[in-house]
Amino acid sequence: MTLQRPEDQGDARRKRIVDYYDSCEIDYRTNWHLDECLAMHIGHWDETTKTLAEALVRQNEVMRIKGKITAADLVLDAGCGVGGSSIYLAGSSGCKVVGITLSHKQARSARRLAEEREVHGLTAFQVMDFSSTGFADESFDVVWALESSCYAPCKKTFIREAFRILKKGGRLLVADGFEIKASYTPFERRIFDLWVKKWAVDALESLSVFRDHLHETGFVNIDYEDITENVTPSSRRLFGLAIIAWPLAQLAEVMGKRSKIQNDNLLGAFFQYLVLKFNLGNYGIFYAEKN
Ligand SMILES: C[S@@+](CC[C@H](N)C(=O)[O-])C[C@H]1O[C@@H](n2cnc3c(N)ncnc32)[C@H](O)[C@@H]1O
Repeated sequence: MTLQRPEDQGDARRKRIVDYYDSCEIDYRTNWHLDECLAMHIGHWDETTKTLAEALVRQNEVMRIKGKITAADLVLDAGCGVGGSSIYLAGSSGCKVVGITLSHKQARSARRLAEEREVHGLTAFQVMDFSSTGFADESFDVVWALESSCYAPCKKTFIREAFRILKKGGRLLVADGFEIKASYTPFERRIFDLWVKKWAVDALESLSVFRDHLHETGFVNIDYEDITENVTPSSRRLFGLAIIAWPLAQLAEVMGKRSKIQNDNLLGAFFQYLVLKFNLGNYGIFYAEKN
């Protein structure tokens, strides 16, 4: 038996995440307006939104307002995807943004898209792990993690790194899914896993444990807003898309036109809705400040 060293496990995990995103970008392009909205997040629906495209942009707006982001801020977009939030923030607030992702492909796309949308003077994109960034202490005014902290194998390590690189008075914004039950039956755990693992996430953090980590790390003015209702329309839409696409996607896999990772992405899209529907988890935004 050969034992895997921790650093190799980390490499394997990072590779799984990159493989998932690089392979499934086509699904985000086909079903989630990727070229138009540049968003790899779920979308926030409220009285101001009528379409998915509007909900995807609205999610950036809701977080920008919550984080009180202005032109004076330097923001770290931790887990930036193809740079959508970075480009949105630079364009709407005039702030400077550094976006980091594990995927070289995403970083290249983000640079190109920032240039096309004429915010390249305010943005920079790098391949870097948000749990161990290499940025100097107290570099950023805001750390923004939109559906990315879930990928951290240890959420506390991610939170500590965010705390270290934030300036005093800096703000952390985290939008993500969380576990909410004290314990899960094996059946409920299976449903959860069939969602998160198919999307290359090891496990979601419990909401109360995440809050405790923020306290223990030294964050203050911690606030959590449950926006499960606002994301449910997108969640339901994903569920419907997965059901409709499944038979053809299976055929495409047999014909070598779609990969297992891509079809697992559809399975994840099916099960994520069941997690919300049966109240196994919720979705919300954490806001916290560094004193
Ligand atoms: C669901 S996507 C969200 C992308 C973006 N925030 C958005 O809203 O469009 C998750 C992103 O987190 C990134 N990610 C996952 N683990 C990471 C890590 N350890 N360091 C940096 N980025 C990471 C992935 O590469 C991907 O870009």
